[in-house]
Amino acid sequence: MSKPNRRKIRTFALLLCIITFTTFLFSYTLRDPSVYFFKYASRLSDSFFAKGPCACRQCVTELEDDPWFAERFNQSIHPLMTRENSVLSDETFKWWQWLQSERHPANFSGVVEELFRVIPDEVLYMDASPERCRTCAVVGNSGNLMGSKYGSLIDSSDFIIRMNQAPTAGFEEDVGTRTTHHVMYPESAKDLDINTSLVLIPFKTLDLQWIISALTTGTIKHTYVPVMSQIKANKDKVMIYSPTFFKYVYESWLEGHGRYPSTGFLTLLLAIHICDKVNVFGFGADQYGNWHHYWEDNTLSGAFRHTGVHDGDYEYNVTLLLADKHKIQMFKGR
Ligand SMILES: *[C@@H]1O[C@H](CO)[C@@H](O)[C@H](O)[C@H]1NC(C)=O
Ligand SMILES: *[C@@H]1O[C@H](CO)[C@@H](O)[C@H](O)[C@H]1NC(C)=O
Ligand SMILES: *[C@@H]1O[C@H](CO)[C@@H](O)[C@H](O)[C@H]1NC(C)=O
Ligand SMILES: *[C@@H]1O[C@H](CO)[C@@H](O)[C@H](O)[C@H]1NC(C)=O
Repeated sequence: MSKPNRRKIRTFALLLCIITFTTFLFSYTLRDPSVYFFKYASRLSDSFFAKGPCACRQCVTELEDDPWFAERFNQSIHPLMTRENSVLSDETFKWWQWLQSERHPANFSGVVEELFRVIPDEVLYMDASPERCRTCAVVGNSGNLMGSKYGSLIDSSDFIIRMNQAPTAGFEEDVGTRTTHHVMYPESAKDLDINTSLVLIPFKTLDLQWIISALTTGTIKHTYVPVMSQIKANKDKVMIYSPTFFKYVYESWLEGHGRYPSTGFLTLLLAIHICDKVNVFGFGADQYGNWHHYWEDNTLSGAFRHTGVHDGDYEYNVTLLLADKHKIQMFKGR
């Protein structure tokens, strides 16, 4: 084929693309002139290319494309506790009680009953459908966020999930301003604003008693360390990480590595189960290989390698694998 001919074909193909696209755009606009096409261009292109179980371009839960993921992912296990799913198998209860070796636990089912008199008993976020495209930002606490300027990207997500002490004030440019969900346990708790959901990870029956107390009478002041006796948080937006899901994360995703999963890893799996698209920020070490919090000055406090009871390397490997398989997108900062 001679060169001018090939160019002609290329031009023709390009023309065809343009015509198809403008026809699509035009007919879409005519059908619903109120659509703010350009504002939602990315959403629209997401649904235009949709072929799977959600309305995003690619959905976390497309199972057929990856056997490694399909083998581990189990959608029927709900990440958040309800009265109904709070009944634990003996095996799960034993495992969960062993996490922090609680000596004299209170009556679990009694505590759960009291808990759901204080916080709502709802099935949340299990509304996956071909029409839903829920984007989530999971924001870890790594120093690699410093100077990253991810703030506006993070803020543009539907859900923004932070954990433990994570502050935003003073770090907005790098970590954003909004928080829809804040994951914590009693020993890492902090006050939240009225629009943020508190997601409690319980490690023992006392942790469930603590959240009841912290939202009401404030009588529990100590677990294995002193804890906040009262917490500012919207009672109607408190959620409990399910012990059954906790065990599933440990067994299915970590294959029993470490004593139990870290808050970061538990939060990541929560997001994978309730979101259609997961962007991950602030995980892993910084550019110098140091592990520290973005709000702590590395040069003053000294970098630490905080793995402790967690197998940080194994968790990070699984996280990278999830990224390789396009289940999550990692933003590695600097
Ligand atoms: C998913 O979890 C449910 C509930 O624990 C269990 O019955 C089912 O066998 C699991 N499915 C797979 C594919 O592992
Ligand atoms: C625990 O609490 C439940 C519900 O309040 C109650 O039915 C049960 O008898 C209690 N079990 C024990 C051992 O006290
Ligand atoms: C909470 O959300 C409401 C409604 O969107 C808004 O008016 C209010 O300013 C928010 N409050 C805070 C503390 O962000
Ligand atoms: C992580 O993955 C690397 C490369 O795939 C492997 O060499 C290493 O042993 C893995 N580490 C753990 C803790 O599994």
